[in-house]
Amino acid sequence: ASQNLLLLPGDGIGPEIMQEVKKVIAWFNEKGGMSFETDEGLVGGSAYDAHGQSISEEDMAKAMAADAVIFGAVGGPKWDDVPYEVRPEAGLLRLRKDMQLFANLRPAICYPALADASSLKKDVIEGLDILIVRELTGGVYFGEPKEIIDLGNGQKRGIDTQVYDTYEIERISGVAFELARTRGNKVTSMEKRNVMKSGVLWNEVVTQTHKNGYEDVQLEHMLADAGGMQLVRWPKQFDVIVTDNLFGDMLSDVAAMLTGSLGMLPSASLGAPDGVTGKRKALYEPVHGSAPDIAGTGAANPIAMIASFGMALRYSFEEVAAADKLDKAIANALDKGLRTKDIASPGQTTVSTVEMGDAIIAE
Ligand code: NAI
Ligand code: MG
Repeated sequence: ASQNLLLLPGDGIGPEIMQEVKKVIAWFNEKGGMSFETDEGLVGGSAYDAHGQSISEEDMAKAMAADAVIFGAVGGPKWDDVPYEVRPEAGLLRLRKDMQLFANLRPAICYPALADASSLKKDVIEGLDILIVRELTGGVYFGEPKEIIDLGNGQKRGIDTQVYDTYEIERISGVAFELARTRGNKVTSMEKRNVMKSGVLWNEVVTQTHKNGYEDVQLEHMLADAGGMQLVRWPKQFDVIVTDNLFGDMLSDVAAMLTGSLGMLPSASLGAPDGVTGKRKALYEPVHGSAPDIAGTGAANPIAMIASFGMALRYSFEEVAAADKLDKAIANALDKGLRTKDIASPGQTTVSTVEMGDAIIAE
């Protein structure tokens, strides 16, 4: 049976890097024995320009029905003044909300060819391959009350509330344990149980989930601040890190920068398994934005976008060998010295978006 992909290129460099993913998909269909069917929709500013919404109901329905959504990037100065409800980001937030994408996966991988270029010591990052699993739909970004109160004496009070229920911690830690089994078989859970009640519960529920069917996976607990320190000191001690929305936001950005440019970083967001098919809703996107400063110049690095499709192969389609093949092709292109501008050393010759895509296909 064929697999259904909804491509949402979006704005800025989004369509340019999506073009390279289309070539990769075509390659897997022609030479990799796969049958992906693709449909394409509008999201963000380009959708607003077309019909006044940041994503149409029709495209939302397609996203809900797709086996995976491949998302480029949205936004840009052109849409700075559009009404808040239809701003470009609203399209992405709507997708995350309606698809209930509660698990955000951010790998930090060090490509050998780029280990030398890092600002960190080579032995710290060479061979690095870790995965941060961030809870994406709960915690302090969403908890109520959330408000600014006027205290009337010239003082105001800003309130955000960290809330986690058992089921939210169970399902995110379940995802982390399952992913660990496909990798290094170790999960490190990070919270602040020393000062936060939600941290105490997080620790308890992760421990209980581990007991209920994941005891083959090694589990360790770490306070999130110590975890941040260890990520920079010796990141290779980790395999899968599972943490809440706020800590995960920060720790995944730190981990990402261990290995280099924004143009290299893929991500996946997963929902709960469907009751009937067992398949998870999923959206794959580069970590970076629409890079309006380089849009249209052919300078965009397509690797984050292509590697995001690689994550789709791995996590939505269980095509692990194909995902490995794609990752190897990226590593090979880098080994041969191909560099887009964002990952080039000063004075180094650079290639365009299309040339990098072609090189990866050739590999
Ligand atoms: P950005 O990630 O678009 O760009 C930051 C810097 O990194 C820029 O100098 C850009 O040229 C460079 N860069 C990013 N991706 C690159 C790539 N693939 N190859 C080479 N260089 C790359 O973040 P910025 O500038 O803060 O935001 C630009 C727009 O993107 C804004 O409208 C913002 O709201 C939106 N945005 C959208 C996101 C999404 O769609 N998920 C995420 C982050 C920002
Ligand atoms: Mg962030």
